[in-house]
Amino acid sequence: MHIFPRVFRSWLTVVLLLPALAQAQFVANDARLLASGCFQCHGTNGKSGAFDALAGDGKQDMLNKLNDQRKKSANASIMYPHARGYTPQQLDMIADYFSKQK
Ligand code: HEC
Repeated sequence: MHIFPRVFRSWLTVVLLLPALAQAQFVANDARLLASGCFQCHGTNGKSGAFDALAGDGKQDMLNKLNDQRKKSANASIMYPHARGYTPQQLDMIADYFSKQK
């Protein structure tokens, strides 16, 4: 039983998928925006900055280092406010972003 004609059904699929695609796009851009707070010292996209390059580093290794930084006392390191300034979920997105840069 066809409630919708064939042509209308394909349009309906597109219309229903668009918000999901828009959302996926937002999440990807959002990770880069979060990571841009690190570009100043670690270079744009984690490449050739003043300090350690992060591009292509292992995600879990990066997260372990960031979590170590979070446990240190304030002023212990220049990294402390940056490791503390994001939620664990945001740090996960940031580490994921840098790990995927080539
Ligand atoms: C103000 C400059 C600055 C900013 C901004 C900054 N970092 Fe750092 N980062 C450093 C310095 C300096 C070191 C090395 C010394 C240290 O560990 O304290 C470092 C070390 C690291 C390390 C360990 C590198 C290694 O291989 O041992 C990681 C991972 C890291 N930063 C990730 C980040 C992330 C992710 C952000 C953004 C949320 C960020 N950093 C923002 C200066 C910065």
